[in-house]
Amino acid sequence: MIGRRVKYGMVALSVLAAATSAQAGGNDVGRPWMNARLGSDARAELLLTRMTQAEKLTLVTGFYGVDLTAKHWTAPPEARQGQAGVVPGIPRLGIPPQWESDAGVGVATQSSAKVAFERTALPSGLATTATWNPELAFQGGAMVGAEARASGMNVQLAGGVDLIREPRNGRNFEYAGEDPLLAGTMAGAQIAGIQSNHIVSTVKHYAYNDQETGRTVLDVHIDEAAGRMSDLLAFEIAIEKADPGSVMCSYNRVEGVHSCENDHLLNQVLKGDWAWKGYVMSDWEGTHSTAAAALAGLDQEDGVSTPDTAWFTNGKLDAAIKAGQVPQARLDDMVHHILRTLFAKGVIDHPVAPGPIDYAAHAAVTRADETQAIVLLKNTGGALPLGDRPLRIAVIGGHADVGVLAGGGSAQVHPRGGTAVPGVQPTTWPGPVIYDPSSPLQALKARLPKARIAYADGRDPAAAASLAAHSDVVLVFATQWTAESQDFPLTLPERQDALISAVAAANPRTVVVLETGGPVFTPWRGRVAGVVEAWYPGTAGGEAIADVLTGRADASGRLPVSFPDSLDQLPRPRLDGEGLPENAPFDVTYAEGAAVGYKWYDQKGLSPAFAFGEGQSYTHFTYGGLKLTQRGGDLAVSFTVANTGPREGYAIPQVYVGAASGAWEAPRRLGGFRKLKLRPGESRRVTLTVDPRLLSLWDTAAHGWRRGAGAYQVWLGASSRDLKASAKLRLDARSLPASYHPAG
Ligand code: BGC
Repeated sequence: MIGRRVKYGMVALSVLAAATSAQAGGNDVGRPWMNARLGSDARAELLLTRMTQAEKLTLVTGFYGVDLTAKHWTAPPEARQGQAGVVPGIPRLGIPPQWESDAGVGVATQSSAKVAFERTALPSGLATTATWNPELAFQGGAMVGAEARASGMNVQLAGGVDLIREPRNGRNFEYAGEDPLLAGTMAGAQIAGIQSNHIVSTVKHYAYNDQETGRTVLDVHIDEAAGRMSDLLAFEIAIEKADPGSVMCSYNRVEGVHSCENDHLLNQVLKGDWAWKGYVMSDWEGTHSTAAAALAGLDQEDGVSTPDTAWFTNGKLDAAIKAGQVPQARLDDMVHHILRTLFAKGVIDHPVAPGPIDYAAHAAVTRADETQAIVLLKNTGGALPLGDRPLRIAVIGGHADVGVLAGGGSAQVHPRGGTAVPGVQPTTWPGPVIYDPSSPLQALKARLPKARIAYADGRDPAAAASLAAHSDVVLVFATQWTAESQDFPLTLPERQDALISAVAAANPRTVVVLETGGPVFTPWRGRVAGVVEAWYPGTAGGEAIADVLTGRADASGRLPVSFPDSLDQLPRPRLDGEGLPENAPFDVTYAEGAAVGYKWYDQKGLSPAFAFGEGQSYTHFTYGGLKLTQRGGDLAVSFTVANTGPREGYAIPQVYVGAASGAWEAPRRLGGFRKLKLRPGESRRVTLTVDPRLLSLWDTAAHGWRRGAGAYQVWLGASSRDLKASAKLRLDARSLPASYHPAG
């Protein structure tokens, strides 16, 4: 194992030579590390030679960014009000503070802050994933990064990529679904977009932070191979697509060891096998030791909010070094990881400064994202799209008259002008509950001038049913608020199922528009004409919803997560830790291994309510010409998609792959996808290369990927359950090292 361990203490030798040459070049005399022609590692080494021990120790602790009077805590003076955290800078050397804010859907404000940043919110991370459009994810990230710069933030706590193993997880809205390829691709694109602004983004929460119940005390158990082929693969793909400057380790334990002091996860897999060069930051107060954490690969303790819960500052890491528990070379290595990242991402060369924000341009970005995120799950009798006809339309519930719901917790973005629905409980952590002031009702009225549109808030089901009975079409907006630090039942709250049933009984031409964090139960789906999943729609959500409902835009999202029909379909029907006293440790055993989401349903032969990849367009597509070839050892899949319907629309052909033998965790894995915009009558030939890891098993003993020889099956589908064509190709055996990254 020695060969795979991360080595420290190798950085010093070239320092003097580099310093001499930088100075000889006459660059920034006295600050040779400011010579941008030097590599990031060389610049970091130059800086390290000038730093005192106290300065080095300064860079490895981040402090909570908000004054917590209850804890007698004063944030450092560099902190920007409302931000998540700050690592003090070193002005003497020109090292700026690291100003950190959450950024899953936009520049967030901490719940305990007295003043909020009012910023643009993207739709939820899960919504962005539902676009299956990495370009939109990149643009959304670029928008968030631009607002971060203008807010004076240079480190963004974004890039949630924990797989959805637990549909009740209160943070599913921040994540990117249940499939490692889709999640890694979409989160990676968002991270790359953020970092295109010369700032750092994280990917988080590494690893297996898949439920909020007991998140700081639970211990995840998973077979090593299963982890490499599921959750870890999602991180690996996101990291190779985006090279995030930082990885945030998670609160939970994995195989008995907290993630932030987990040598296997941090040193061996992340920094060793994947050769990632950034710095590991802990989740807020997610550090649990000094020497163990430092030696396991944690580079920065973050979110420190009281001196007594800190492990690196307050003299502790210094003392551990003096006592010989942590080599000095390891502190230098921690600082090197941080500094080389600040150089590599442009944080030092392009200092951030608060400035103006182009909110109108950013509203267009979030609107485009949400428009393509909306998933049309059911549409019978041509209920949608709503043409501009003299229809009587009832809009019911969900505060659709004023806004759209957002998710809660540290990712909470405050809209300009404040929430559209003040006072909704909880108003404190993990609240406040916020509705972005973008009204679907008003947007529908603007688009449908011939229609008569009436609104009922839905609190009185009888009144809502009566309005429905006197309408031609009914749109029921059903909401489920979810948030960090809690998990949530899959049943819609506040008796909304009963409201939907009453309305549908009065008028079967009822379309349910869901604004939820993730999957929910839909027991009424057989009794309504339409089901639309709009997720948490973001700043311009009402406009986007109206664009899709009226057909101004095609319905072009597809589910990135399965919707279960009942709890007994889940690998863990009972949520682990539920009902236990707070802080009582417990185990979560992932017996499903790598069979997450649709893979589990397929393996068990279960029918979910709605399947992974599912979603309709307003036009029709045919899929054909499936052809498989082997190119340089890789599997290339070619096919043709044609728009045979009446209007322009988006197809999302999905390629699924199956093992030559029955050894995989499931019959099928997503092997590739493409989002195609096609005019009526247009067809497109597409060729995708399947990442060879998706055709392999992780071999723990051999420490690498192994593809067995044999005939592999490939399906071309419109969803994981709507498979249109299949073909087989014999592939040779192939071995790939743990460090394998696909080209490009
Ligand atoms: C969350 C992180 C977040 C941090 C700072 C923690 O509670 O788990 O995702 O980045 O707080 O707000």
